[in-house]
Amino acid sequence: MKSTYTIAVLPGDGIGPEIVAEAVKVLNFVAERTGITLEIKYGRIGGIAIDTDGVPLPEETVATCKAADAVLLGAVGGPKWDQNPGHLRPETGLLGIRKQLGLFANVRPATMHPTLVAASSLKPEVVSGVDLVVVRELTGGIYFGEKKRYTTEDGREAAVDQCIYHEDEIERILRVAFELARKRQKRVVSVDKANVLESSRLWRKVAERIGAEYPDVELSHQLVDSCAMQLVRAPKQFDVIVTENMFGDILSDQAAMLTGSIGMLASASLADGSFGLYEPVHGSAPDIAGQGIANPLATILSAAMMLRLSLGLDEAANAVEGAVWAVLEAGHRTGDIAEDRSNAIGTIKMGELVLAELEKQL
Ligand code: NAI
Ligand code: MG
Repeated sequence: MKSTYTIAVLPGDGIGPEIVAEAVKVLNFVAERTGITLEIKYGRIGGIAIDTDGVPLPEETVATCKAADAVLLGAVGGPKWDQNPGHLRPETGLLGIRKQLGLFANVRPATMHPTLVAASSLKPEVVSGVDLVVVRELTGGIYFGEKKRYTTEDGREAAVDQCIYHEDEIERILRVAFELARKRQKRVVSVDKANVLESSRLWRKVAERIGAEYPDVELSHQLVDSCAMQLVRAPKQFDVIVTENMFGDILSDQAAMLTGSIGMLASASLADGSFGLYEPVHGSAPDIAGQGIANPLATILSAAMMLRLSLGLDEAANAVEGAVWAVLEAGHRTGDIAEDRSNAIGTIKMGELVLAELEKQL
């Protein structure tokens, strides 16, 4: 097994640098305890890169990521860049890095921690026990199709976004979902809009074909609007949800909120092999940036996913997750998950508590 790993760290904008700092402390601590060497290489992406380098995704950042074993990303974006043209928007950097690194599978677990049931806006009996994963296709679909703005002959402004999916793109994301389901409850729900969209009809056909290769996994299909309803009505029915890029973007945010706070949700974006980019589900939270109150747990849990999926350090990953749960069980909360905000702790304090727990576990 390798003993030296290079991790590219892209803090990004808003609360990005604050939360990433806590996750890097955790990674460094794990390295120290497990005897591996982590080389952390920082890079710029998003608004900070637009301001410094003139583009949301500098070549240098891409090179840093490509030379790394895994990437840890904070978040990008903010009101400062909201009026920029498309190629100078922070999100363009995010779409670009996913494409350039071949990250085609976004894996977002939504697990309801027992001590946080009260933080959910849904009834406890609906959300307690929720343990699902949304697998979202990340490099195809409408976000990457041709875009066009034009004026019709009768003078109306119009816009087109094209949604394209190729068979092989659908196949590989479905394989990720089925492989994952095999290690879980063995149920895959493939989500599409096959009653209207041609790309969804192809999706469903490929899902059936791949599903036949996994007879031990139960495959069912749901239309995206129905799935959105089921997610809030009876979320416990789901194990693995697999879907295309835009549906997955929306459904994974919805699934995130079942568990109370977007500040708790980790994600992995995987390429072929062990390479992956790890980032919290949430954005740059400009409304609370710089206040030291952001919840770093989603980023710390993303770092745990990195330890498991890219570095093969399962034990360390379990220890980090265990430390996070222990801190929650002891009642510590950042504002976003606190029932009583007057007792809420800040970003750095939360990071320190996790490290203190980790010290006991590793
Ligand atoms: P957001 O996720 O940044 O914030 C939504 C709400 O959740 C806000 O009230 C925020 O304060 C809160 N929140 C988010 N993360 C939190 C944390 N760790 N701790 C405590 N509270 C937290 O989404 P929003 O407001 O729609 O977007 C803000 C900016 O982030 C925009 O520029 C958007 O484009 C960008 N964005 C970037 C993403 C990324 O980098 N992956 C994903 C989503 C949005
Ligand atoms: Mg989103």
